[in-house]
Formats: sequence, structure tokens, C-alpha cells
Amino acid sequence: MELTLQAPLDMHLHLRDTEMLENIAQASTHTFSGAIVMPNLVPPVSSKEEVIAYKERIMDSIGNENFIPYMTLFFKPDYDRVFLETIREKITAIKLYPAGITTNSEGGVSGFDVEELRPALEAMSDLNIPLCVHGETNGFVMDREAEFVSIYEKLAAAFPKLKIIMEHITTKESVAALDRFENLYATITIHHLLITLDDVAGGMLQPHLFCKPIAKRPEDKEALLKVALAAHPKVMFGSDSAPHPRHAKENCGCAAGVFTAPIALQLLVELFEKHHALDNLQAFVSDNAQQIYGVTPLNKTVTLEKKPFKVPTDYNGVVPMYAGEEIAYSIKEAK
Ligand code: DOR
Ligand code: ZN
Repeated sequence: MELTLQAPLDMHLHLRDTEMLENIAQASTHTFSGAIVMPNLVPPVSSKEEVIAYKERIMDSIGNENFIPYMTLFFKPDYDRVFLETIREKITAIKLYPAGITTNSEGGVSGFDVEELRPALEAMSDLNIPLCVHGETNGFVMDREAEFVSIYEKLAAAFPKLKIIMEHITTKESVAALDRFENLYATITIHHLLITLDDVAGGMLQPHLFCKPIAKRPEDKEALLKVALAAHPKVMFGSDSAPHPRHAKENCGCAAGVFTAPIALQLLVELFEKHHALDNLQAFVSDNAQQIYGVTPLNKTVTLEKKPFKVPTDYNGVVPMYAGEEIAYSIKEAK
């Protein structure tokens, strides 16, 4: 059994910087045609110069691969129209983090006061810059995303022409919100389609499955599967592959992030095949994203074959999901 995907896109990716960027970029750039690159570096990517310089460092690290890094800017409430106009052509989206909610998000937003956010969000809406959001409150960890839905609704209603992407959704509440507002969209990871909190903490603690938002309940996973497997036109694949060095994960004080980039497509094919939904995978992994973002990716054809692949125990010091285990599909060719 073989399957060929055209121009797979990863609409939420952490490529990091410096040595980590050099070490892990190829895991994405070999098999994906492009990716939305997250801006949560230290310091966050928040000026035109930083976007340009970061993109150059990414291009330097990817060698001959055909790959477009779709750049993002770290949202700050004081961005004004003039600044956004000058940066428009350099970025594909702007990423909003609630302050302190996850890795390197200290400079994010607190309070979510619509009037305070209005100048920046109205300008983004007029300039057709999508807003990508890490949607979690600082409430009880299992409720953070569901609590954030009321903030999504407030923003979606106040800025009806602004495209709002609910990033890495993990709950049935976020899935339900998709159809209530025309301007709400979502990315879904492969790990949230495969695991629940039980896999993270039900037995011995699994640091390599720990991420933000944390994996939720079986009924949440079912709701995610329903829209992903149907390739609901408002959802797209975004891995949220978030590498950390082994010592930062296997540590007292485990960093959040699951590294899936090298096995994401293989796992997606296995999952969609299991649910008899292979016909919808192309839309979930590329076509929907092209529609939503209005991007035209580089041609890249990726062929997967049903041949067991033993997942390496680490990639240059980063431990992937399912390290050392066998998965059903392998990459046969990417060109
Ligand atoms: O698990 C996560 N890791 N969630 C995020 O939102 C950030 C990411 C990271 O940058 O490590
Ligand atoms: Zn992320």
C-alpha cells in the first residue's frame, strides 16, 4: 500500500534557533512543503528586522530542500497600523500568546480587553493578517482551553473579518465553536488525535508526551477525530512539533512540547487508514490550509509506503514521540 501527498503543510511548527534549528529543521523541511513558523524565541520575534533575520537563519539551515517557512510575528497590543503595513509582506500571520501560558510567552497578552486590542486587531483585519491564538486561560489545567472559548467568541464577534486560528485545539468545546463563527478556524496536532491524558500520566509519567495544551479526555479526542478525519474545511494540520533537548524533558520540571516532525506524516496516514478516511488526508494536510491562508505552496510530492519504521531513539539529542517503537508507515520518497 502506497499513498502520495501533494505539498504537505504543517500550519504550526516550532523550528527554534541556532543549534537546535540546525539539528531539527531537516525533520520538517524534507517531507513538508512549508510550515507556519512560531515566533516564541528568546526574545520573541517582534520586529521586522527580527522576522527577516530569523527567516534568513531558517533558509540557511534547510540546504537544498524545497520548503517555505511562513513567518509569524509575536503579537503585542501596541502594534499600530503603520507598523503592520510595513511588515505585512514579510509575514503570513501573527501569533498571540496569553502572557506566561507556555514556553517563552512572558511578553504576551493579559486581560483580553477588546478596546485595548482594537487598534491592532482592526488593522490586522483590514490588512488580512490572520491571528493565530494559543487559547488557554490560567485556570485549572484541564479547563483552560474550554474556558478560553468565551474569549475566542468575544474576539470573533468584535472583529468579524479577522481570521482567527484556534491553535492546536484539544477539546470538544473548541470543536463546537468552529461552526458558531464564520471567522474561527483551527489547527489540530497528530498527538492530540492519538493520545489522552491517560497516555501522559495514567501510568508512569511520560515526559515526551507532555505539552501545552495538555492532552484531554477520550470524548475530546473523539471530537477532534471527527472533524480531522472528515477534513472539515475549517481545520488543518498543525503539528505543534516542539523540540526540547532530552535533559529539558527528562528532568525535574519537564519542558512542554512533543517532537513529532519526523513521524507526523507517517502517523497521519496510519490514523486515516485505520478510520477509512484516507481520501480526506490531502485536504487535512494541505488543501484546507491553502484555502484558509490563501497560500500556494511549492510543489513537493511525498510518497509513503506501508512498511514498518522503527522510530529513532533520538534526533540529535531530541527524543521524538514513539521513540524506539515501530510505526506502520515509512517515507518512501519526497521530491
Ligand atoms: O507544548 C508546547 N510547547 N506548547 C506550546 O504552546 C509551546 C511549545 C514550545 O514552544 O515548546
Ligand atoms: Zn506551538
